[in-house]
Amino acid sequence: MSLPASDLSKKADNRTTMELGSVLPETAEVRDGHLWIGGVDMVELARQEGTALYVFDEQDMRHRMEEFMRAFRSRYENSDVLFASKAFMNKAVVRIVQEEGLCLDVSGGGELACALAADFPAERVFVHGNNKTPQELEEAISAGVGRIIVDSRIELARVSEIAGRLGKVQDIYMRITPGVEADTHEYIRTGCEDSKFGFTMLEDFAYTCVGTALETPNVRLAGLHCHIGSQIFALHSFGEAAAVMVEFMARIRDGYGYTIEELDLGGGLGIAYTAEDAPSTIDAFAEVTCASVRELCEQHDLPLPRLLVEPGRSLVANAGVTLYTVGILKTLPGIRKYVAVDGGMSDNIRTALYHADYEPTIANKADEPRSEIVTLCGKHCESGDAVVVDMPLQRADIGDIVCVFGTGAYCSTMASNYNGQVRPAVVFVRDGNARVTTRRETYQDLLARDV
Ligand code: LLP
Repeated sequence: MSLPASDLSKKADNRTTMELGSVLPETAEVRDGHLWIGGVDMVELARQEGTALYVFDEQDMRHRMEEFMRAFRSRYENSDVLFASKAFMNKAVVRIVQEEGLCLDVSGGGELACALAADFPAERVFVHGNNKTPQELEEAISAGVGRIIVDSRIELARVSEIAGRLGKVQDIYMRITPGVEADTHEYIRTGCEDSKFGFTMLEDFAYTCVGTALETPNVRLAGLHCHIGSQIFALHSFGEAAAVMVEFMARIRDGYGYTIEELDLGGGLGIAYTAEDAPSTIDAFAEVTCASVRELCEQHDLPLPRLLVEPGRSLVANAGVTLYTVGILKTLPGIRKYVAVDGGMSDNIRTALYHADYEPTIANKADEPRSEIVTLCGKHCESGDAVVVDMPLQRADIGDIVCVFGTGAYCSTMASNYNGQVRPAVVFVRDGNARVTTRRETYQDLLARDV
């Protein structure tokens, strides 16, 4: 794997940090040339805690959670917002999710364990996954989780068997593949027909399986679920998915005489990774989903279901940044300029995996214009190891602290120990205070599992 050839005609934008618009966390500011977030000097924080370092603006996260809750509850009383913890998870964020009144979407035993360790109420936990192991299902059912999102007919039988053995009746949703092609990277598109997720609607399979679910002991079919993909800008895709789902609910009522009480439309709202990106707002997303469900239910004469959404990225991505220290500079004439940082694909695999774009700045030169085009490469033994490819940056010197914006989602949760790299600490900043919420890994941690 190597990097795409550099576009040598690309010009630096000469923007200073505060001109980067919606990629910035809410409390970002520049004081005496330094980038501050949450009232904390990022240069000072990097010195204290070391780099690479994940930093989250707590106020930003909380405000987005509040905004999501308000956007939905003000339009649709019987609604809930679930935080998709695969985007970012540690015990501290779980506590914030609880304080802000959201529910939690977990996608496996590990995420469930973290939720329970942070005392998150099990009945507000929703369990996802296309291949939950029998052990994970047993852990979830015995913990008393609110809903299990059943992904296949085989899993339906498994949930029934385990719940029966534990003497419980488990509330379930069935995940349906609505056949909607969302406008996003193909690797994170999940609603189209060729998907490993959910019950396909082809050849009436999903419909038949609803019948099976209704006759299956020890489970109660509480609702339906769909998730069409991630980092979606075009809101009409959500309206289309809602239409397919509500029509399906009507068909279930007509065919089986059964009313589906809850409808979970998944996550997927896109965010700004570059200053040019213009994602939809939380309000516009809420408007499309709430209005579509309401209208379609009226059309089909269905009672309004409880409506749920599961945002991950749009709650945390722009609240998070990653700090690195510049270690090596290399200029390859006529090719590109490399600025090597003390992290890389181990703390952010998204660039290598999806050719993701990010906006960087130098935290100790935050008021200087970004006058060069550089590639921020990592320290790993792989040519494609880069965090930022061909983006503007201030003139870098060794020892500078680079801040990469928009890394709050799917970076720490997808981190690895490649090349024996210890995973970064996670620090939350707020009102001038910095608190470590996940400590940096140590070499002892790396060795702890070897026998
Ligand atoms: N619900 C379900 C069932 C999901 O599978 C996902 C994400 C979400 C909710 C949250 O979606 P969001 O609001 O964050 O878009 N690693 C990729 C993203 C994979 C998304 C997986 N599912 C990335 O780094 O872009």
